[in-house]
Amino acid sequence: MSPLTLAIFLLLSILTFIHILSRPKDHKNQPKLPPGPRSLPIIGNLHMLGSLPHRALHSLAKKYGPIMSLRLGHVPTIVVSSPQAAELFLKTHDTIFASRPKLQVSEYLAYGTKGVAFTEYGSYWRNIRKLCTLQLLRVSKIDSFAPMRKEEVGSLVQSLKKAAAAHEVVDLSGKVCELNEETTCRMIFGRSSDDRFDLKTLIEEAFTLAGASNLADYVPYLGALDLQGLTQRMKKCGKALDIVLENIIKEHEKIPSSDQQDRETNFIDTLLSLMNQPMNPHDEQVYIIDRTNIKAIIIDMISGAYDTSAVSKVGIVKVKGEERSDGKQNEEEEEDSIGRGISER
Ligand code: HEM
Repeated sequence: MSPLTLAIFLLLSILTFIHILSRPKDHKNQPKLPPGPRSLPIIGNLHMLGSLPHRALHSLAKKYGPIMSLRLGHVPTIVVSSPQAAELFLKTHDTIFASRPKLQVSEYLAYGTKGVAFTEYGSYWRNIRKLCTLQLLRVSKIDSFAPMRKEEVGSLVQSLKKAAAAHEVVDLSGKVCELNEETTCRMIFGRSSDDRFDLKTLIEEAFTLAGASNLADYVPYLGALDLQGLTQRMKKCGKALDIVLENIIKEHEKIPSSDQQDRETNFIDTLLSLMNQPMNPHDEQVYIIDRTNIKAIIIDMISGAYDTSAVSKVGIVKVKGEERSDGKQNEEEEEDSIGRGISER
């Protein structure tokens, strides 16, 4: 037997042994699960998902019904695939299913449960969400950035006009994504995106890692082996993001308070002004806002704003472009509604 075969054989034996030990002993007290396909040891039903999981789940649901159970590695999973069943989970019993799963990516890239997006549903989440809603995302605050959004949209429309006059080809999605990065950076950091920090590359890497299927999330005892190399990448990216955020926060802390008057609307300055204070003084559980909270909230805001808004803005521009080619709008109306459509979102 070659050393490699021996190593694989030993690894499989150890994993099977751990799997048998970690199986629940008392089958009678296990909750009754909805119907679903039989699962294999260790990997559960992961092998059934294939390269197009949405299609695999669709055909499994046709066989097992709109509420079916699977096991993804060690994680019991319920797959819901009809509007009526979705309403039961997302509306009728929403508080039971409100928490997001605990993922390795949140540990390394989003400061664990210190922010809002990955925190378990409960008192801490209610407090930090209230803080974000009242201090950062309230209508008056978002409205205070309207002139900045208008200015950025205006310069995009002007650059598109110039390109059109010169019959140049324009990567519109790219331009709209750049616009989104710029408005997000100005809202969160109070200034334009900065080459010194290369935040964009780090955010793109963080999105790739967040979207990857990580075996460690499904079979935790394989996590230590980091077979896909994802943990190492997450640690590297998380560390680099932390350095960038620390540098930006230190810059904001250095600014004398007299200079802050016209800068206090950006998210970092707002959060720094609340540091070491209770998140919600009226709550019996007092959570104090610390530096890690601030960094975690900033990461949530950047990831919340980067992709979603860019995708919707590209959609608006595309629909408006189609209306224009159908002759539904004249040039002036189009410029006005694209600008308004983008800056209002
Ligand atoms: C068109 C743009 C956007 C869309 C379609 C969108 C959509 C969503 C959705 C579907 C959720 C999940 C809600 C849930 O699980 O209950 C979410 C959460 C979130 N979004 Fe957005 N979003 C957009 C823009 C933004 C922007 C601009 C920001 C920040 C400035 C943001 C920050 C967040 C945060 C922090 C969360 C997590 C909230 C929580 O877990 O309680 N989003 N968003």
